[in-house]
Amino acid sequence: MRRLRQSPQLRQMVRETSLAPHQLIYPLFVEEGIDQPVPIATMPGMSRIPEQLLAEEIRSIAEDGVSAVMLFGVSHNKDSEGSDSWNPEGLMARMTRTAKASVPSMVVITDNCVCEYTDHGHCGVLDGGDVDNDSSIVNLARQAVTAARAGADIIAPSAMMDGQVGAIRTALDEAGFSRVPIMAYSSKFASAFYGPFRAAAGCSLDGDRLAYQMDPMNRREARRESRLDEAEGADFLMVKPAMPYLDTLADLRAQSDLPLVAYQVGGEYAMIRFAALAGAIDEHAVIMETLGSIRRAGADLIITYFARQVARQLRGA
Ligand code: PBG
Ligand code: ZN
Repeated sequence: MRRLRQSPQLRQMVRETSLAPHQLIYPLFVEEGIDQPVPIATMPGMSRIPEQLLAEEIRSIAEDGVSAVMLFGVSHNKDSEGSDSWNPEGLMARMTRTAKASVPSMVVITDNCVCEYTDHGHCGVLDGGDVDNDSSIVNLARQAVTAARAGADIIAPSAMMDGQVGAIRTALDEAGFSRVPIMAYSSKFASAFYGPFRAAAGCSLDGDRLAYQMDPMNRREARRESRLDEAEGADFLMVKPAMPYLDTLADLRAQSDLPLVAYQVGGEYAMIRFAALAGAIDEHAVIMETLGSIRRAGADLIITYFARQVARQLRGA
């Protein structure tokens, strides 16, 4: 085996997996009603960006060589349904317009969910203690149309309601947005790795999401979820979190010919960042190894909070 490992040139010739800036998507948190970036203690290096600094932020993300972003709103206008998220003058619409106006070539993906806009923090409409599926997907579809009207390039439904992809596809088509693709969070597990994100997005929750997100112990179920989303019209499938679910990525790579996306979530970022800050690991090497493993398992694209630094590094900047 060592014949092919003798030199950097030979090693590169037989390298099976590549990583390039266009495969990376950078998630960012946009907060209304603040005027300074607010550092996120659970995710060192990440901040909530004030709405009025978003245009500048998008330009600097583009300068780093990242061509796609995923926007999360940190709302100060929460209610029981999350209605600000489909208000044409609400945060979702405004941040999407601002991002597109700043760098028109930037691919703007909007996370389609209501948990950052509901006062209870759940991903849908509450009925008693439960999240009601069918009224929730009506609202998700409204939000998708508002985002598309504001210029979103891709809608990414993340609420894990049954039938959400079909409902959003129909609503987009009827509103004249048949060209807007859907990136479905199809295998979204009820993960403890979302802890740092909930602090970041200001959507702490009483209770849990076990009645709609997937049980981390299940593998076959991810194949079923993904088949349904594909049949409902998803243009991309997503697995989230990424590294603890490489088996699911590999399964979906074998099952589907859709582009596959993996989300390296806040908890995955925090583990690497805190370990590196403590001097326990070589941060860059570990990041590249984790992104490599996610690509190897079958992901075409990776959503990662490391996107900017990795893109800079890959471009030798
Ligand atoms: C909201 C949403 C979550 C994440 C992305 N969209 C959190 C959740 O479901 O609780 C997690 C992102 C991360 O952890 O980095 N539906
Ligand atoms: Zn949600």
